[in-house]
Amino acid sequence: MNEAVLNDAIANPRNLGEMADADAVGTVGNPECGDMVRMWLKFTEKDGRKVIDKASFQSFGCQTAIAVASMATEMLKGRTVEEAKGMTAGDLSGPLGALPPMKIHCGQMVEGALKAALEGGEAGPVAAVKVEKAGAGLQGNLAESLGEAAGPRVGKVKVVLQ
Ligand code: FES
Repeated sequence: MNEAVLNDAIANPRNLGEMADADAVGTVGNPECGDMVRMWLKFTEKDGRKVIDKASFQSFGCQTAIAVASMATEMLKGRTVEEAKGMTAGDLSGPLGALPPMKIHCGQMVEGALKAALEGGEAGPVAAVKVEKAGAGLQGNLAESLGEAAGPRVGKVKVVLQ
């Protein structure tokens, strides 16, 4: 793993924060480590194709998840939806180099948040309220709520659509 790239992304995460005018939002959490990543996407049209205009994220998680999410949101700009759907955790964390085994799920969380957003997470006022609740109640009940929720999986990460 490239420590310099990691440290830069942690010190200065790009595209951090809720996107008020997002078209889609996706959230995933990992009940095992208790971390969570949420990604917002805004689409535009280019040459008749739907492309990602911008992406942002919030991460209640470890530094690796923050770093990968920061890189991913930069990497996603200008990608078509089809291209973004095909991106793996390895693609999204590319500049970081290979993640150590203990950190592979951190990248998968970011991939999961992206896929959740691409597969129909619609952003809007209701989603915004959920963001606040998730932030406020994170310490106490995230693991419990993730444990109860069912969702698709990306690798070992349980994808929880909210
Ligand atoms: Fe769980 Fe990084 S340790 S997301």
